[in-house]
Amino acid sequence: MLADRTIIVTGAASGIGRACATRLLEQGNRVVAVDLGRDALEAEHGGETGSLRLVAGDVALPETAARASAAAVSAFGGVDGLAHFAAAHSKLNWQEADAEEFNRILSINVTGSFLMAKAVAETMIKHGTRGAMVLTASGGVLMGGTGEQGRGGPAYTTSKGGVLILVRCLAKSWGRHGIRVNALSPGVVETAMTSNYTAEAKKGAAARAALGRISQPEDQASTAIWLLSDDAGFITGENVNVNGGAAFG
Ligand SMILES: NC(=O)c1ccc[n+]([C@@H]2O[C@H](COP(=O)([O-])OP(=O)(O)OC[C@H]3O[C@@H](n4cnc5c(N)ncnc54)[C@H](O)[C@@H]3O)[C@@H](O)[C@H]2O)c1
Repeated sequence: MLADRTIIVTGAASGIGRACATRLLEQGNRVVAVDLGRDALEAEHGGETGSLRLVAGDVALPETAARASAAAVSAFGGVDGLAHFAAAHSKLNWQEADAEEFNRILSINVTGSFLMAKAVAETMIKHGTRGAMVLTASGGVLMGGTGEQGRGGPAYTTSKGGVLILVRCLAKSWGRHGIRVNALSPGVVETAMTSNYTAEAKKGAAARAALGRISQPEDQASTAIWLLSDDAGFITGENVNVNGGAAFG
């Protein structure tokens, strides 16, 4: 349970980010919701309120992270947490992927994670806030990804491996400031990102999970919120798999 905190949520116009922003608001938190387009954010969240600010921008650009942090400070006086879900998928296989695709995906998924986390940490340190962050990796990192059946290929899966290492680096860098950083590694989740998965891919993922189903966005959102809360107050630099038991299948 988390309440009365200010959390920046990226990827908030869809899937896991939307579910996380919605639940945080329901629990009495303040949210700065970030995504590519303002129209999509407004469509999903119904416009700004006393506890919600909307920021449209590309997380691969430093100015987006700066604007999101500035919005949290000007509207709510600071920031207590980052739930970073924004990412781009790539199902191109090793033959189809080229330098442009690899760089595009790494720039959004890895550089974007770094830039968001950096801007939030700078704000926390400036305000003396002992906060927490969750960056999103993927269960695919454990298995490797070829791009078959619409699933993540080498560019996407490598980018998520980068996020895992980034979490370790940042947790070490900011621990002395009381800032925790952890990774969330979802299994297959029913969102827009997996709309390209073949029916066979989704069926296989459900069969591999000990719990016998794929995930809903709320399964991921609740774990991310727990990681941001004081209940997870001595956990940092870790990776939490939320895949219904698929990793050992
Ligand atoms: N869905 C899955 O099965 C699954 C599995 C493992 C990991 N993940 C990870 O979970 C996170 C959330 O994924 P989801 O399934 O909710 O996806 P989604 O496609 O439903 O939502 C992703 C959101 O990120 C936004 N976004 C994309 N690029 C952006 C950019 N450059 N700047 C700002 N916003 C951007 C999109 O507009 C979208 O609203 C991602 O990091 C994804 O890689 C998802």
